[in-house]
Amino acid sequence: MNIFITGISRGLGKELALHYTGLGHKVFGFSRSALDNQKNENKKLIDSKNFKYYTGSINIDSDASAAIEEAIKFMGSIDVLINNAAYKLFKLPDEITAEEYRESIDTNLTSQIILCNKVIPHLIKNGGGKIINMSSNAGMVSYEGGTSYCTSKAGFISYSLSLAKYLKDKKISVNVISPPTFSTGDYRTTRPEINHTKLLQSEKVIKLIDYIVFSKKFITGKNFPMFKLKTLIKYSVLKQIEFLDYLFQFRLK
Ligand SMILES: NC(=O)c1ccc[n+]([C@@H]2O[C@H](COP(=O)([O-])OP(=O)(O)OC[C@H]3O[C@@H](n4cnc5c(N)ncnc54)[C@H](OP(=O)(O)O)[C@@H]3O)[C@@H](O)[C@H]2O)c1
Repeated sequence: MNIFITGISRGLGKELALHYTGLGHKVFGFSRSALDNQKNENKKLIDSKNFKYYTGSINIDSDASAAIEEAIKFMGSIDVLINNAAYKLFKLPDEITAEEYRESIDTNLTSQIILCNKVIPHLIKNGGGKIINMSSNAGMVSYEGGTSYCTSKAGFISYSLSLAKYLKDKKISVNVISPPTFSTGDYRTTRPEINHTKLLQSEKVIKLIDYIVFSKKFITGKNFPMFKLKTLIKYSVLKQIEFLDYLFQFRLK
């Protein structure tokens, strides 16, 4: 399988690249920073004949086009696109500058939409393919420090579900994954003060991505919220209360 992954310099993207190259698939990565070749796991990726990457920003149109061109040269085609890159900006609304809002919404939403547009013709030419978009629980809940991140991730869910409807007859599936905070190998190293055992582990996220990547069934138009059961029940109840509130406040007035 030929897999294109954005955001492979660290975190989940790097783990996905290691995972899929390890399984013998070809991976093409795309992020702004070069992989630090002093780190063992990075060396493993750099030395793999199944892996290549492009350093550039998804927010620069010519970088995105060049990355796709290089990916096609290296892999011959793209079977799976994993839109994983993200700009995590958590500040109060009035602390975020206009430039930060633009960069965050561009990175997490607009540029990924444009990247999909550029990759879709290759998937169609290939007779089909899979698009997996990384959103977040933040796209379904709201908090005061999330006006930028939550907005972009909510938009990414809506975009993915709409795109799935459009592409379903073209044998291209589109699914979106919305996990709560999860721990990656890099996160464990950079934030040792956090109790990582309490968090969802990246391995579980990879397992879910594997389920979509390797499924023979045509799974499309799904948002996978990786809520714990307790949160899922709370979320469903809150949604129903929201609806009842609307009924009583407005419709039944
Ligand atoms: N970790 C969590 O708790 C969590 C929870 C829910 C959802 N998610 C989502 O899951 C995905 C992976 O999370 P993560 O924690 O592994 O993220 P991360 O460690 O912050 O890594 C983000 C990746 O995106 C790349 N990136 C950022 N801006 C870019 C740009 N303009 N162009 C190209 N690449 C860019 C970064 O590389 P460069 O800086 O080198 O460009 C990096 O490789 C993200 O979409 C995130 O929103 C994460």
